[in-house]
Amino acid sequence: MRSIIIALLCLFGSTQMMAADLKKGEKINKTCALCHGAWGQGTAGAKSPRIAGMTTGFLVKILTEYRSKKRKNAGMVTTSGIHKMTDKHIQDIATYLAGIDLRNDPRFDVDHAKGDKAKGKEIFNSECKGCHRRTGYGKPEKGIPALAGQQTKYIINTIERFKARNRVHDDDPEDDLFDEMFPKKEDMLNLTAYLSTLDDVTEPISATLPGGKSILAKGNPAVKSKKTNIAKAPSQEVVPGARVSEITQTVAKMELGTGISRDEAIVAMRNKAVELNMRLVGEQHVSRALEKRGEKTPYLAIFQFCNLSDAKAIVHNNPLYAAYMPCRVAMVEDTSGKIWLMMLNLDILVDNTLVSKDIVKTVIGVNQKMLEIMVAGTTGDL
Ligand code: HEC
Ligand code: HEC
Repeated sequence: MRSIIIALLCLFGSTQMMAADLKKGEKINKTCALCHGAWGQGTAGAKSPRIAGMTTGFLVKILTEYRSKKRKNAGMVTTSGIHKMTDKHIQDIATYLAGIDLRNDPRFDVDHAKGDKAKGKEIFNSECKGCHRRTGYGKPEKGIPALAGQQTKYIINTIERFKARNRVHDDDPEDDLFDEMFPKKEDMLNLTAYLSTLDDVTEPISATLPGGKSILAKGNPAVKSKKTNIAKAPSQEVVPGARVSEITQTVAKMELGTGISRDEAIVAMRNKAVELNMRLVGEQHVSRALEKRGEKTPYLAIFQFCNLSDAKAIVHNNPLYAAYMPCRVAMVEDTSGKIWLMMLNLDILVDNTLVSKDIVKTVIGVNQKMLEIMVAGTTGDL
């Protein structure tokens, strides 16, 4: 491996040419991971697209548009500090994410969507293939993103927005491709059924990491077996996931947005939990109870949530997971008086392959729901 790295360094002459700082990118990604998953994998919900393996150019463009408020997503921008990012930071995170290859990692396969694949293929080949390419992996050099490997609900949600003209497709506000398309929802489902079969391909991703190497998630079977074409590529280097060495790695935390009161945050969390079918099974107002006893103390309250059928599936798989239940969000005041929402980040278990593959999707899903509850709280669900 060392010789490859040295060869790469020689090839590029100096490290300066490698404009992006991947270590920095990895660090920034921890803030994105709150919603997009530790490896940018996204989750089955409509609000967590896969961002791993997107092209650097597309990511830079999108993040720059979020920064300038051309695209709006208040929760994401403030949580990850995108409004304060320099061009260099954007380049770092974009390059890091572009280098992550999840395609041959079965843990992150998108769910095969229900629908008639053959009919979906016809639609794709006649209307979309010209730009998004036969493989569904788009044209990186032209800023055309992959639809293959993208989360189904997110694609459906996005197409509905194109149809309603509240998101611009193909950078052309006049684009009318979707106006008349999919008069029946069934056609859209057929299309996504086809797209969801396209995520296992072996052509190299368009990663712009030196030497075309890519980042494989820790626990990717390809890392061990080296059986897939991708893993055999000579320039392949595996960047391992972080080992848990400090408590912050196990916690996802977000500061309450400016102007959002604690009560507003609590109401927003309760509402979001109902929407996501997560039951609020307990509330402890710790500081309030202490104050009643005359003990003044910084604010602390703990909210417990549980989805009964997910809990059943997870504990059935391994009773040890019961120790993590129910899922909790703590609302806590720090020494400077700021209010934070915090929860255990289950991604760290997934990331360190401590969750059996039969329930990995359920666990990722639970984590996602909890994050959505937290985001609703920090933004007052604006
Ligand atoms: C608070 C949750 C949250 C955080 C944190 C977050 N995002 Fe997002 N992100 C979203 C949501 C929700 C969407 C989908 C928005 C939509 O459909 O318009 C999204 C969309 C995106 C998209 C567009 C995807 C596409 O296919 O068009 C990119 C790229 C992206 N995020 C990158 C990032 C990066 C990079 C970070 C970290 C610096 C980050 N996000 C942090 C919630 C978040
Ligand atoms: C003329 C070229 C062109 C054609 C044809 C085309 N697209 Fe696109 N598409 C683009 C470009 C460019 C983008 C990126 C624009 C952006 O969001 O900034 C895009 C973005 C998308 C996105 C958003 C992806 C994401 O990650 O956010 C979806 C979904 C999509 N297209 C679906 C389709 C479907 C379905 C078809 C066929 C019915 C289609 N497109 C046909 C050029 C095209």
